[in-house]
Amino acid sequence: MTFSRRDFVKTSVLGAVAAGAHAAVPDALAKTNAPHQAEAGHASQADSSKRPIIICANNGYAYVEAAYAFLKGGGDTLEAGVRVVKGPEDDPKDDSVGLGGLPNEEGVVELDSCCMHGPTRRAGSVGGVRNIKNVSLAAKAVMEHTGHVMLVGEGAERFAVTMGLPRENLLTERSRKIWLLWKEFNSDRDWWGPGLADPHWHPPAPDAKPQANLLQDRIEKLQRRAAGLGIEPEFRLAAIRRVLFPPSGTIHCSVLNEKGEMSGITTTSGLAFKLPGRCGDSPIIGAGCYTDQDVGSAGATGAGEENIKVAGAHTIVENMRHGMSPKEAGMDALKRIVRNYNGDMNRLRYMDMTYYVLRKDGAYAGVCLWEGYSVGHPHKFAVHDGTLRSEVATPLLKGYSQDWPPMPIVPEDLKKDSEYLK
Ligand code: GLY
Repeated sequence: MTFSRRDFVKTSVLGAVAAGAHAAVPDALAKTNAPHQAEAGHASQADSSKRPIIICANNGYAYVEAAYAFLKGGGDTLEAGVRVVKGPEDDPKDDSVGLGGLPNEEGVVELDSCCMHGPTRRAGSVGGVRNIKNVSLAAKAVMEHTGHVMLVGEGAERFAVTMGLPRENLLTERSRKIWLLWKEFNSDRDWWGPGLADPHWHPPAPDAKPQANLLQDRIEKLQRRAAGLGIEPEFRLAAIRRVLFPPSGTIHCSVLNEKGEMSGITTTSGLAFKLPGRCGDSPIIGAGCYTDQDVGSAGATGAGEENIKVAGAHTIVENMRHGMSPKEAGMDALKRIVRNYNGDMNRLRYMDMTYYVLRKDGAYAGVCLWEGYSVGHPHKFAVHDGTLRSEVATPLLKGYSQDWPPMPIVPEDLKKDSEYLK
């Protein structure tokens, strides 16, 4: 997720990049049960018996109120979840999911989604789907109308059309221009972008330049190209950020009704400018989403590859089955990601992950690997248990994740391994 990267437009590119580059606190791994600043006001698990309840990634906030009313009126839990995630799927301005999602490296939007319906213990999933905006509905249709669990690629698209979902062009003008900006920016070795005859052509910058200057050069070059492509001035900085640091926006929603029934659903356009055919965690049952009617539901936004390797959502639900609280269960999954890198902060700082965890009794938690993407922009999630609000997710690590690929110099003190796993 992701979503907070959009806040980039609120400040200057260099300012935000610089803040991110220096904000991460070395060796500041917060122990799971240590008191933590970000927990203030985070009521989550204590008063646990409020039902119904919806939790979701913060980009679903605007759609939760209506879904909650539907749930209160006796609506199905998965249908309520769909009503939340369909909002961002339909919104052309949300470039993390559905219509207007940022495309793959060939400029084609490819979407992933999966869902689980607790009461009937069923699951559905679609991966790498083109031309279908509401892949959440397609995943639900796989669950309801086939004997399969997962369909991918062209077969999934054809199935979605069979189910009545329209084929449409998902690449908005805004997303197309961001992709083109990315394509031209990364092309000093191919034929994309202005050629040698262009009056603004410069020979490649010598490698010896300090990294900070290189970054500034890149941003200035991108500003010129963005203007040339007709990207609106007020959106230019946000577009540049997406080019420099391709995001992996996603939305997850977990739902519990008064009867104790649960469902979960996740949908995404995945990592921007990915290789065609790349699926992240979002269509993987047990990674991007997992719901067990006896225990709880969990989902994820963030670095899909890392989450697949720890089967994050399934790990969390199993942890709760064995007695962990939602927060402990989520923190344990995050620690497994840390473990996969032997606590090496020099690598871990380039990834992030947020888990949304809901237990069958209504206890919940939002947990994340890092506090946020930059100072003042913590990871948040939306909750409705009678009152709609955003809460700050509890981080495992103090400090802020860094964007990939790395450009500013990595501070020496972050290169040492964490004490945490020793
Ligand atoms: N979590 C979304 C993705 O990596 O595709």
